[in-house]
Amino acid sequence: MNLRSGRLKGKMTADAASFTSSIEFDRRIFNADIKCNIAHTTMLKEQRIIEAADADKIIKTLNELESEGISVLKLDLSVEDIHMALENYVTERIGEVAGFMHTGKSRNDQVATDLRLILKEEIEEIEDDILNFIENIIEMASQHTETIMVGYTHLQHAQPTTFAHHLLAYANEIRRDFERIADAKKRVDMCPLGAAAMTGTGFPIDRDRTAQLLGFSRVMENSMDAVSSRDFMAETVFALAMLSSNLSKISEEMIIWSTYEFRLIEISDKYSSTSSIMPQKKNPDVAEISRSKTAVLYGELMTILSILKALPHSYNRDLQEVTPHLWNAIDTAHSMLNIMNDMLSSVSFNAERGIELAMANFSTATELADLMVRENNLPFRIAHQIVGRTVSEAISNGIRPEDIDSKFLDKIARDINGTPLNISEELVENALNPYEIIKARDVKGGPSPKAVTESILSLKEFVKAS
Ligand code: ARG
Repeated sequence: MNLRSGRLKGKMTADAASFTSSIEFDRRIFNADIKCNIAHTTMLKEQRIIEAADADKIIKTLNELESEGISVLKLDLSVEDIHMALENYVTERIGEVAGFMHTGKSRNDQVATDLRLILKEEIEEIEDDILNFIENIIEMASQHTETIMVGYTHLQHAQPTTFAHHLLAYANEIRRDFERIADAKKRVDMCPLGAAAMTGTGFPIDRDRTAQLLGFSRVMENSMDAVSSRDFMAETVFALAMLSSNLSKISEEMIIWSTYEFRLIEISDKYSSTSSIMPQKKNPDVAEISRSKTAVLYGELMTILSILKALPHSYNRDLQEVTPHLWNAIDTAHSMLNIMNDMLSSVSFNAERGIELAMANFSTATELADLMVRENNLPFRIAHQIVGRTVSEAISNGIRPEDIDSKFLDKIARDINGTPLNISEELVENALNPYEIIKARDVKGGPSPKAVTESILSLKEFVKAS
């Protein structure tokens, strides 16, 4: 059927046809478009809007097309989009009776329905992969509950923690990404079909029935809104952009931690490359490419939001231009998620280096100050001052953190506060021992092996319930 044989005379120029065609990125909604047409035709038949025999012919042909696959369609630019290609195919097979399937339907509600159907499936695949990622992180974490490392603030040594505790920070961030995308799915899961061009139709269609046949949870209430809204795409892409942001934080740490300076981890050769000139090189390219893909996600989000800005209601062809950016965002985020999952699982942690760094640079100082608060009932600010001066003098005199003793502390305490502390050597030693510090950090969400094990349990429950 040539759409241009009525109102319009002649063809578009080849350039204009190619410029406005969505055929290439419509390929992805081929199956959804068949489903959408079958549901609509079934409902038209049930409502006795079209003859049962005609409906059956149409449905049979659509089912055959589904098994034959997209390659049997003529997808040249003259057909504009997948909806026309599909209708043309049915018309070629069963004649003009095919035209009944478009009763009370427009490409405007059809494309919105197709996009929502596919996006729901894509989101479900991403949800499964996020859960799988969280499970892998949990598995890794459970092997490292006593693997000491130093935690950073401002990328400076801050306090001792464990590799497991750090991994669980990843898991909890990614868990929120799951929740965000699952929440976006609720608004993807709404059926626009029956809104037709923008005001519905005078035919007695049953919108609840088509929504039910297509597996949607609810119908979009307003027909103008139904054909003019793509907010469901924007919020899905935001959720993916946020996921990619969280993944890029992991990439960044993999890159830094695998440097000679840090030597905290080794990424498997499977996810590394070398240099064409420097034979010694092992480069973390997967993590780097992953870090940069985040920008692609941000770009797609910004493109989508910019297309949607200030569009008048209801359908405008501009909406078509959102679609390829949605697909690119999904594919980019999805591949990033899976490769990061594989790469992170391949990482081995250098436990000796972890403890070496945790001991090297006064990351135990907070616990020393806490000890003075507990033992001497000093206000934390005074304790903070005493320990700060202690660290500064230790650095100037080349004293290692683990060599700080009670006498050394008393000298400084006398200077600052007028009295010595008289804390037992054993308590001072414990306060400077990362293992003891970790054990004591037993608050909910903290790094003690017990708290981390509880966190792991709660994440496991979340994965099971999701
Ligand atoms: N290809 C269009 C899109 O992706 C759907 C068809 C609506 N076209 C139209 N001329 N009303 O949005």
